[in-house]
Amino acid sequence: MNASTDEHFRSKDLLGLRFLSTGEITHILDVAEQFRGLNLRAIKKVPTLRGKSVVHLFLEPSTRTRTSFDIAAKRLSADTFSISGSGSSTSKGETLVDTARNLAAMHPDIIVVRHRRAGGALMLSQALPGTCVINAGDGACEHPTQGLLDLLTIRRALGGFRGRVVTIVGDILHSRVARSNVWGLLKVGAAVRVCGPPTLIPPGLKELGVEVHHDLQEAIAGADVIMALRIQQERIPRGGHFFPTLREYSRLYGLNRDKLRNWARKDVVIMHPGPVNRGVELEPEVVDGDWSVILDQVENGVAVRMASMYLVLGGERAAAREGRG
Ligand code: CP
Repeated sequence: MNASTDEHFRSKDLLGLRFLSTGEITHILDVAEQFRGLNLRAIKKVPTLRGKSVVHLFLEPSTRTRTSFDIAAKRLSADTFSISGSGSSTSKGETLVDTARNLAAMHPDIIVVRHRRAGGALMLSQALPGTCVINAGDGACEHPTQGLLDLLTIRRALGGFRGRVVTIVGDILHSRVARSNVWGLLKVGAAVRVCGPPTLIPPGLKELGVEVHHDLQEAIAGADVIMALRIQQERIPRGGHFFPTLREYSRLYGLNRDKLRNWARKDVVIMHPGPVNRGVELEPEVVDGDWSVILDQVENGVAVRMASMYLVLGGERAAAREGRG
């Protein structure tokens, strides 16, 4: 029942954009586009996942992703169950795999997992062959539904990806959002630049075809989209110093009205996955300005999560088989 049979998406899991083809990414965006319409109706609930159960296993804090998955599942009529790190037996020393096996013994259809370690979701998908696993963020590795909602937002804002330039600015080293976006954007044909202090840029990006910059003015010149990322303090080891001070970082890599007016395209689109540290990576006038599509990203997230859950469970063919076409 759990293996996906959708023509364009055949995996039972969604672990990372690294593992998806261009066709699969495009198909998820197309399905999400249909669910977007549903989210704008007065009555937002459909019976697509009636009788299915979804466990949200969030072992790291989240506002947007967790709420978005929960709303998405409920709008598809799935039953949802939420478990947090402090409220689960992982706080008593139970391993992730033991926790997940015990949850799987209750036969949920999907486990959505956020874990502080890279590879957490992959480990679950291997340990649970009969349950769909969706990665809601694993350490600094991937955050695939964030990458997909970013792609949907860019596609809606610009009409497509070919010939477009996206500059990702900030703490690339510790960012799963950056990784998912790099994989996704390159696959759909956009040009990707990253910008930040040398200490916050991981090795290997140039080899993938990404332009690496340390000068913000150069990095954003001519870019269609600037995606700002926050410093991931929670992934920086205690005592770790990647830049002299937050003030210095902000002076060099933070975006304000003057930098945008002087250095960026007039019609540049500003994105941020949230949570934003106002006054560090973005000044409030940028977060709330006409450039910003930050809340569009959040809105599109619900549709992307609906599409993701629908597709890992088998999509159209499964719905047709069960008489819910
Ligand atoms: N973008 C994102 O993952 O936000 P949350 O940490 O609030 O889920």
